[in-house]
Amino acid sequence: MSDYQELIDAARRARENALAPFSKFHVGAALRGRDGRIWTGCNVENASYGLTICAERVAIFKAISEGAREFDAISVVTAAERLTPPCGACRQIIWEMCGDVAVVLANLQGEVTVHRMKDLLPFPFDNRSL
Ligand code: THU
Repeated sequence: MSDYQELIDAARRARENALAPFSKFHVGAALRGRDGRIWTGCNVENASYGLTICAERVAIFKAISEGAREFDAISVVTAAERLTPPCGACRQIIWEMCGDVAVVLANLQGEVTVHRMKDLLPFPFDNRSL
């Protein structure tokens, strides 16, 4: 698990910037490139609700916009007792942009589980389907 501690810590810190006045559910994410670089994100909500973006996608789009293309892990941190898995929309984006990365779920109480992205999105739609 120590392989992921720095990533979890980065997601925990990013969570502190969450802008979630509507749900009050604060999420932090951190994405690790194959070269070790880390990009972070938090959820950003707005009054129309539907334009909210999840922490995972913020981190991924930051990384992509800076030219990164190869990743090996993404971490999601919340305060929830039940660890928070990525939503359906984020699973699609993680799969397409990051591939079969490790998905490291953690909470503030120190619980951690690690999943493979291919297990979280079986039989995916992606560029092989086009
Ligand atoms: N949220 C995330 O940022 N990531 C997740 O994995 C689950 C949900 C956000 C979206 C919204 O701002 C709040 O959590 C409640 O759904």
